[in-house]
Amino acid sequence: MATYAATITGTGSAFPAGIVTNQDIVEKLAASGIETSDQWIRERSGIRERRMAAPGNAEEHNSSLGLAASRAALEMAGKKPEDIDLIAYATCTPDTVIPSTSCWLQHKLGAVNAWAMDLNAACSGFLYCLSIADQFIQTGQVKTALVIGAEVLSSIINWSDRSSCILFGDAAGAVVVERAEADTPHRILSATLRSDGNLWELLHIPCGGSRYPATADIIRDHLNKIHMNGREVFKIAVRTLTSFAKQTLKKHKIAPEELDWFIPHQANIRIIEAVAERLSIPMEKVLVNIERFGNTSSATIPTVLDEAVRAGKIQKGQTVLMDAFGSGLTFGALLLRW
Ligand code: ACO
Repeated sequence: MATYAATITGTGSAFPAGIVTNQDIVEKLAASGIETSDQWIRERSGIRERRMAAPGNAEEHNSSLGLAASRAALEMAGKKPEDIDLIAYATCTPDTVIPSTSCWLQHKLGAVNAWAMDLNAACSGFLYCLSIADQFIQTGQVKTALVIGAEVLSSIINWSDRSSCILFGDAAGAVVVERAEADTPHRILSATLRSDGNLWELLHIPCGGSRYPATADIIRDHLNKIHMNGREVFKIAVRTLTSFAKQTLKKHKIAPEELDWFIPHQANIRIIEAVAERLSIPMEKVLVNIERFGNTSSATIPTVLDEAVRAGKIQKGQTVLMDAFGSGLTFGALLLRW
């Protein structure tokens, strides 16, 4: 029996101001002789528009979006920056390699009593970080954690690849996680996390890290941008999202029909619908924001959560299942009672 339980007491989200519609992408790609259409993007992905940070705008750096989301979450929780013991920051598009984006956030927020760390599990990162916060809180080592999922994916979009450039957007979501009595029903119940590095090639950025530092040729050939086998990722995503959700529900003897809300990673509406169907979860219980924001990687789940909490959809005592997959490949599902 753990000493404590961890409970989410505040949520927040932030987006860059700039809206990029499908038509904007059609025109951008047309300038390089690449064809696409609003209809194709909507029908194949469910996305109508996404937000993108304006390069050079300090208010829209990854840590600045994280800051705005964190302030909103802290306000909801009634906490001050000094109350935070741990900042767990999920991102694959950090402000800088060093210092970590979590340290940039700590500096901007004034969370002077925290230790701060970044975690890169791509789109599963928020669930990995939330699970880490849960564990540190359960053992009593952390009282209050700030967990963030934030991305500026516009910085790694491969504009020469029409099948991937249409998918991504920028955003930040944050939650405050606090220590609660071990027997409280309002808590993170458990997570199922895994990765399979054998599948690295399906979704990766070939160069720009320490293996192959960026050169003029690498930049010219878009090798410092996302490379993806969309069709293969799609199939694996449907299979693993379904299986991780099932495993997590089974652990707690909860039938899918007992779930109040399902928050899957927002990668493609067709993936979401296929998983919901396999789990027999009606779409009315599935929370989505992909139409307006696209795939924002580690930010999808916390931004969807924040929207649902602020809209009064998620109510005290309800059971919520979160489910993600991402580059790595990484996988995870997390069950909680609000
Ligand atoms: N506009 C028009 N046509 C296009 C476009 C486009 N933007 N992109 C691809 N096509 C074409 C293809 O060239 C292909 O043409 P062909 O049949 O003549 O060869 C046709 O459309 C079908 O291509 P598919 O790749 O089979 O299309 P699909 O229905 O699979 O949709 C998509 C592609 C949207 C990429 C889908 O596979 C998908 O969403 N995959 C999962 C992606 C994903 O979840 N990634 C995770 C990222 S998370 C992270 O960690 C950052």
